[in-house]
Amino acid sequence: MAAPDRPRFVVTSRLPGDGLKLLAEAGEVVAFDREAPLPRSELLAAIAGATVVLTMLTDRVDEEFFAAAGPGLRAVANVAVGHDNIDLDAAARHGVAVTNTPGVLDDATADLALALILGASRRIAEADRLVRRGEPWEWGMSFMLGRDLRGKTLGIVGLGGIGRCVAARARGFGMEIAYSSRNPAPAEVTAALAAERVPLDALLETADVLTLHCPLTPETHHLIGAAELARMKPTALLVNTARGAVVDEAALVEALRAGTIAAAGLDVFEQEPNVHPGLLGLDNVTLVPHLGSATIETRSAMAELAARNALAAARGEPLPTPVRLPGPSDGPADAP
Ligand code: GLV
Ligand code: GLV
Repeated sequence: MAAPDRPRFVVTSRLPGDGLKLLAEAGEVVAFDREAPLPRSELLAAIAGATVVLTMLTDRVDEEFFAAAGPGLRAVANVAVGHDNIDLDAAARHGVAVTNTPGVLDDATADLALALILGASRRIAEADRLVRRGEPWEWGMSFMLGRDLRGKTLGIVGLGGIGRCVAARARGFGMEIAYSSRNPAPAEVTAALAAERVPLDALLETADVLTLHCPLTPETHHLIGAAELARMKPTALLVNTARGAVVDEAALVEALRAGTIAAAGLDVFEQEPNVHPGLLGLDNVTLVPHLGSATIETRSAMAELAARNALAAARGEPLPTPVRLPGPSDGPADAP
């Protein structure tokens, strides 16, 4: 397909950094200067005739989306590493390429995972609430004790870019690394991290801290449910910065209430922006509103990578970070 003379880029949310400038040099830009997701009807109207749409993880990209965009749509550039908001089969039916933003958010997301690991192990949010309530407190030998990280086992589900950055940080805290994943990570990676690959059941049983870094797919939906939580140590911490639905939230509420596991740190939720009401009353869970990649530097880098993907798609050039290549018959590209 020949590249359009004047591509039309639709951007569904405010973008930090130079992403919009890059797009404006190459074509017409329709950009929504807002944070909240576009209402569905506005989204569908705005994308009509688009060459590339830059989408957020809050935009549902499905059959209806592709039909509304029309036959000129060459790519959807998701400004996120996760792409569970996008129906890849529908993209294939319409011959539309899909890109994401891997790599540039690994450090920021790993930093937040460590913040939640440290926060849960040292009871930071609970302690902050205690001080703010103005309750009397005094230093005491057994007052608000947490647990050390040194010598403990960090269990990582999914040793991709983010999981590896978490492992490297945790090594600095003296933790041992074990992981489970569909495919083994490269030998040089696991050697550098001294990371051992084990089946998920073994990981659940040995992890002092379990941290999730896998994509949300039909296979990983509710990967951590009541049975898996029951296998974990009663002293274990669970940290989720991946996608809410990887964990059965209702089962987690029960496990935290019953002391099946000790504590959790959650950046993501099953029905964002709603949080299971059972979590709100528990002192042994730290709740963060999906901030994994939310730093100034990282969001700018994500916007620029999405813009470079959009430009490449409009020009018919190789895509920097494809999830699936253009054309009806190509399968998904190898995920990084
Ligand atoms: C954030 O959750 C992302 O997938 O980039
Ligand atoms: C703690 O504050 C200590 O000085 O040991």
